[in-house]
Amino acid sequence: MVISAHALATEAGLEVLRDGGNAVDAAIAVHWALAVVAPWAGNIGGGGFLLFRSSDKAVHSLDFRETAPKASTPDMFATGPDHLEGRARQVGHLACGVPGSVAGMYALRDSLGSLPMERLMRPALDLARIGFELTEADAHDLNAKLELLRSASTRPNAFISRPKWSAGDRLIQPDLYATLERICRNGPSEFYTGQTAELILAEMARGKGVMTKEDLANYKAVWREPIQGEYRGLRIHCMGPPSGGGIILLQVLKTMELLDVAAMGCLKAATVHSMVEAERRAYADRAQYLGDPDRSTIPTDWLLSAGHIAQRMSDINPKKATPSAHISRGIPVKESEQTTHFSIVDGYGNAVSCTTTLNGSYGCGVVVGKAGFVLNNEMADFSSEGIRVDERVGAKDPNRIGPGKRMLSSMTPTIITKNDELYMVLGSPGGTTIPTAVLQTVMNVVDHGQSPTEAVSTGRFHHQWRPDSIRVEPQAIAVADSVELVRMGHTIVCRPPMGRVNLIKVDAHGNLEAGVDPRGDDAAGGF
Ligand code: GLY
Repeated sequence: MVISAHALATEAGLEVLRDGGNAVDAAIAVHWALAVVAPWAGNIGGGGFLLFRSSDKAVHSLDFRETAPKASTPDMFATGPDHLEGRARQVGHLACGVPGSVAGMYALRDSLGSLPMERLMRPALDLARIGFELTEADAHDLNAKLELLRSASTRPNAFISRPKWSAGDRLIQPDLYATLERICRNGPSEFYTGQTAELILAEMARGKGVMTKEDLANYKAVWREPIQGEYRGLRIHCMGPPSGGGIILLQVLKTMELLDVAAMGCLKAATVHSMVEAERRAYADRAQYLGDPDRSTIPTDWLLSAGHIAQRMSDINPKKATPSAHISRGIPVKESEQTTHFSIVDGYGNAVSCTTTLNGSYGCGVVVGKAGFVLNNEMADFSSEGIRVDERVGAKDPNRIGPGKRMLSSMTPTIITKNDELYMVLGSPGGTTIPTAVLQTVMNVVDHGQSPTEAVSTGRFHHQWRPDSIRVEPQAIAVADSVELVRMGHTIVCRPPMGRVNLIKVDAHGNLEAGVDPRGDDAAGGF
């Protein structure tokens, strides 16, 4: 089974499985295909995280997160006319980290894949060359970024080939086709030291970016030890730093395990209050302690220890909200929410959970001239001098910008086992709302007995310590429960839908069930 943000990417993965490929082969094909059919988040100019569980029960995680160029400094976004709004770290060449996706796909193929890269790239190559029809949502998202893509990018490029896009229009990407074809022929060195690297560097020179030849040549994807925890007898496997998502998920689940959540009820005031109070404290820990594990000592084991979680959550009042100002300090980060997640299980029992991103929709808005792909704006995920919204913690901040450093992420690809057998594979886009979307989905299945479809469709809420408000999807929480939450001291803010969780669950007979989030164009397929 494959579930991804686009039916054509899902089909690319399924074809590979039908050809005898494993879940990793399918994941590589889906990732390349998403770079073509979901250019708002699918990418070769961005990065991500992948969690893999093999049929022999070993779990591995790959970090292909972007890195800061060597010339980056903590105050690089602290000056200039746009610094207060943070525009410079969102838009244009300076916002771009060194992309990790191409290195990531080759690291996967070389260690866990079984089919040749030419086979895995074939669907993406065809889709870039022949084109594909935009959905209503695709056209809407592209139109929303047209002005940026016109002003920030080398022209011409495929995205601005029409003044306005409509559902049914065909997006053909000849420059991207040529780039993928060169990568297919020459391998990852094409992207990091070859002609594509030269095009990226020419683009940097045009837009006063700071990424150098050395930055590209030095990029490496990194295999990391996954983190894990328990929830009601299930084993939860997640990505560790530089993603903070897994730690938040495990801390909150450990706290909720002490309560009879099933009896308290789904989206009831007492349940929401307890989850929000745990989230508030977990996100405060994230802001204070998390960053790139290769550059700072990240106390992951301590953060996940029963002792720390019990102490951290010990001042939760079951009847009253704790103001976030009373919780210890750190630097909250505002993250873009346009990421994409896919989940895959193959016939051998291998599973992949992968979240990949450009950060914002269409990243920093720069299409690499003659190469046809969009660059990320992942530098915005660092905390940055000059646009802080909280007290300074200065040089101790583990998510401070530094040369070669990976920026902190919220991506939460997750694999859950029950009695040592595969049980759930899930993840979501949504920036800082990712860990809470995954959390709610897990609890919807485990505590509230919901089917995969119900679990991903149920209304969502989110609290991230700062701002001090519960953000709620329209009508997710009943009026009486909202009134009760306000009485407890919470502030509730209604906001647009959060996350697009794609969940594969294994039922008691070993059959795969799909939970496809209705908030997007996501599509499942299986055989
Ligand atoms: N840029 C979104 C994330 O890394 O979580």
